[in-house]
Amino acid sequence: MAKKVTVVGAGFYGSTTALRLAEYNIFDEVVLTDILEGKSEGLALDMNQSRSIEGFETKLIGATTTADGGGYEKTANSDVVVITAGLPRKPGMSRMDLIGVNAGIVRGVAENIAKHSPNAVIIVVSNPLDEMTALAQIATNFPKNRVMGQAGMLDTARFTNFVAEKLGVAVSSVKTLTLGSHGDTMVPVPSRCTVDGTPLSEKLSQAEIDELVDRTRNGGAEVVALLKTGSAYYAPSAAAARMAKAVIEDSGEVMPVCAWVDGEYGISGVYLGVEAEIGKVGIRKVVESKLTDSEVASLKEAAEAVRAKQADVQTL
Ligand code: 2OP
Repeated sequence: MAKKVTVVGAGFYGSTTALRLAEYNIFDEVVLTDILEGKSEGLALDMNQSRSIEGFETKLIGATTTADGGGYEKTANSDVVVITAGLPRKPGMSRMDLIGVNAGIVRGVAENIAKHSPNAVIIVVSNPLDEMTALAQIATNFPKNRVMGQAGMLDTARFTNFVAEKLGVAVSSVKTLTLGSHGDTMVPVPSRCTVDGTPLSEKLSQAEIDELVDRTRNGGAEVVALLKTGSAYYAPSAAAARMAKAVIEDSGEVMPVCAWVDGEYGISGVYLGVEAEIGKVGIRKVVESKLTDSEVASLKEAAEAVRAKQADVQTL
């Protein structure tokens, strides 16, 4: 069976994700869509012309789409769909400031995707992430395991980078974890952070860890403030592409993602950043691990904060 992934939205996040997916050379087709006429076709043409240099055979296909569903036929029967559609933040904005405008965009996209790729696994990256993931599930009416969001992979990668830089060690020697929301109630989990197997708390003082946790929580805003137009896309696209790869390879990798939580950590009925086993069904299962009491309390706090907002998206 041909393996096909669609990336919705050909901004920097979407186009970088599409190229990463193509360069893995594991898909037959990567479809990149956008509402700007010719943009995705132009980018696909350009990327295809890099195939002989970079040595990948995956074919990129551009598709201009319209709000009434035009152009979506090119995305038909995708195995995985990454939704990047929506506006990014401007300096000073919170992700939540985007909820009104992005809800309309994500709902429309999700409905069209469901029509053309009824068996796809959906990976949402549009912001505010936890709410847009919940909305995509509502709009597609897909089983909850087949809709997930990208955030924990990115936040964890940021935390890892900050720890590695602080200690002057290889990123590969650092393991970190963030759970909770992709926003103010992000829950970096110091008790699960190690450097070459040694607990982070033996390498850094509590004040130093707190500083890195804070920088991680504001990791997206720090990039937005520097860029002035647009938000981060290199690390976010790496995270989303790895999730799509885990789905198509049915790898069973455990990753921090935004997934439907149903009883784990005593939390139910909400999309939240947790660790989950990823495979061709999407989320195979949420993996509950040992956290400190205060980390579980923070996770519960995050769950209640996003639960309230996720209830709002029903009507957006
Ligand atoms: C970020 O944190 C885009 O939300 C994304 O950079």
